[in-house]
Amino acid sequence: MQEFLHALPKVELHLHIEGSLEPELMFALAQRNGIDLPYATVQEAKDAYHFSGLQGFLNLYFQGMNVLRNEEDFYDLAMDYFKRAREEGVVHIDMHFDPQAHLQRGVPLEVVMGGLLKAKQEAEETLDLSIGMIMAFLRDRPAEEALHVLEQAAPYWKLLDAIGLDSAEQNNPPAGFVDLFERAKQLGLVRVAHAGEEGPAEYIQEALDLLDVQRIDHGVRCLESNEVVERLRSEQIVLTVCPLSNVSLKVVEDLRDHPLPKLLAEGLKVTISSDDPAYFGGGMLTNHLACAEAFGWDEAVFRQLTCNAIEEAFVTPKRREELL
Ligand code: HPA
Ligand code: ZN
Repeated sequence: MQEFLHALPKVELHLHIEGSLEPELMFALAQRNGIDLPYATVQEAKDAYHFSGLQGFLNLYFQGMNVLRNEEDFYDLAMDYFKRAREEGVVHIDMHFDPQAHLQRGVPLEVVMGGLLKAKQEAEETLDLSIGMIMAFLRDRPAEEALHVLEQAAPYWKLLDAIGLDSAEQNNPPAGFVDLFERAKQLGLVRVAHAGEEGPAEYIQEALDLLDVQRIDHGVRCLESNEVVERLRSEQIVLTVCPLSNVSLKVVEDLRDHPLPKLLAEGLKVTISSDDPAYFGGGMLTNHLACAEAFGWDEAVFRQLTCNAIEEAFVTPKRREELL
């Protein structure tokens, strides 16, 4: 199974590039940029990565990305992950990134985009890896700010595949972001949103009804509403499920309790991603291996999940043909 899962050409639909910042690179960038870290050693950083929920993680996630200052830092961050993912047999990644988290720290959008786009181009030219770009907006920040950033991103609209909605979910419902998502639709951008990770099943329905999203990131709490499950099944809306993330953030106690088998049994269009691999215990291969062990899935299940991801990935028709 290990060999099969390594060789399986895996497609990752849900990855926050800032969450791929390994402590080793965080230390190297801190030194390069003369920044003090709250950790004395790499091991100390790793030891701090124990979370009781999403907010505790987000605090360290925003703190960690403080070492990203220059274009080169964003390039190194992305290339470091792309190379690692490729070694794990990943062939496509739809990458979320959080411009507001950088603008807030005084890092210009051009710096973020310059570094990430350079890494994307190089990965596509030299690693046989395709990359999708999802500009994500922070749902615990004002919607007006998000709209302003989307307008500011005009020079990059053509280079984006989608906008997303992430950060603290509870009490920050999709309904607050209708104008942002309407504007994105007007610009011809696909819409995706995190929903039903820590928030209730109703947020999934809201994201579909009010934001007209094409994907639900996470979505595991859909099982709390028959109506939502039925909607996801009949429209075959893809769920980008992140098993080890859900364990780390205590969405589930243990991977063996994870609703993934139930989601599949319900006939939902499920995929597997790593979310924030540097913080949640591993990348795509590790997530796949953990599922094989926890659920006893055979090769056919993993082939189906990969096929689901290929169908939904932000790729050209030609690339989709290559991947199928
Ligand atoms: N959920 C919400 N926001 C995030 C996450 C997540 O798992 N990772 C990075 N931003
Ligand atoms: Zn996520």
